[in-house]
Amino acid sequence: MSIDKKELDKIYSLLEKVKDPEIGISITKLKMISGVEKDADVLKIKIKLTVPGCPLSATIEKDVKEILKPEGYQNVELEFGYMTKEELDGVKKSIQENNQKLPGPIEKYEKKQIKNIIAVYSAKGGVGKSSVVAMLAIVAKRLGYKTGILDCDISGPSIQNIFNEKYRATLNKNEKLNPLTYNGIKIMSVEMLTDAEALIWRGPLVSSAIKQMYSDTDWGDLDVLFLDLPPGTSDGPLTVFQSIPVDKILLVTTPQDLSQVIGKKTIMMSEILKVPVLGIIENMSYIKCEHCGEKTEIPGTPEKHIKKFPVLARLGYKNGLSLDLERAIDEDVFNELNGVINSAVFK
Ligand SMILES: Nc1ncnc2c1ncn2[C@@H]1O[C@H](COP(=O)(O)OP(=O)(O)OP(=O)(O)O)[C@@H](O)[C@H]1O
Ligand SMILES: [Mg+2]
Repeated sequence: MSIDKKELDKIYSLLEKVKDPEIGISITKLKMISGVEKDADVLKIKIKLTVPGCPLSATIEKDVKEILKPEGYQNVELEFGYMTKEELDGVKKSIQENNQKLPGPIEKYEKKQIKNIIAVYSAKGGVGKSSVVAMLAIVAKRLGYKTGILDCDISGPSIQNIFNEKYRATLNKNEKLNPLTYNGIKIMSVEMLTDAEALIWRGPLVSSAIKQMYSDTDWGDLDVLFLDLPPGTSDGPLTVFQSIPVDKILLVTTPQDLSQVIGKKTIMMSEILKVPVLGIIENMSYIKCEHCGEKTEIPGTPEKHIKKFPVLARLGYKNGLSLDLERAIDEDVFNELNGVINSAVFK
């Protein structure tokens, strides 16, 4: 059964509020809706995903149903298809246009004071970004670099937890935020600014919180600032790239997980935002026997597009990582990350 134009317009304007969870732009703007039909009391919506098998389809489905339900659409069915290459080019253009409309990046925080800003990112959550950021920072510090970490995950900050700290930021005489200093590493996270248990930041609030933490923290001189990015499933990563002048990106994946599939969007995003991807840190790649030192590989088949970037380091599964971070950085981890820092970050 067809729908009259008025109703169709209403449905489209409702769906305008649903954003692609990774790209952060409305699904109508990205032209992801390829059809709307009504069959008895069932509303059928066809959506074209940018990547086959995108695990984020469940989020889109939930968001679409949530938006339509209060408007009387109780029975909504979604059918997912995939975009052609030409359609994907259209998506790239939309991101570009959208990006241009947003305010430009803020002045780099006195450029000479922070030499390198490295964003650590993965499209999928839980692959170990925050842990890798912590390990990178500890290794960089041990190598003698002045190091900082900015936890850009506003809704799920975890850096304090990883370092086992409970710090509350204070203001210095210049009205700048004093970061937590852990073995000389300067760390700032939204958790240090608020006591709220669960933070639900949205849109402009996310961007202002990130900007504030970046610009108002007393970082002093830094050789490198690592940004712990929220996973691609939130609208945070794009905000970070728009708020902070990132120099380079490091990707984190695990051998078998889907981040390798949705990593394609990451690559697209980095091309558009013109931030180079240094390469991949493969986390939880193998398990090493504590007695004989034999490594058991965790199988996985990297997708072609991710092979576009070099694997800069492979980190094993570390028992007790969450309990003793410093101990987890053994010779293997140190050598791998030393290589990343000296050959990629500071090359
Ligand atoms: N190499 C590793 N060996 C063992 N455990 C690890 C390793 N890397 C990460 N973990 C564990 O995996 C879990 C997720 O790690 P982490 O919080 O660093 O991931 P994340 O990608 O930052 O997650 P999110 O997307 O939620 O920010 C944690 O419990 C952490 O201790
Ligand atoms: Mg994290």
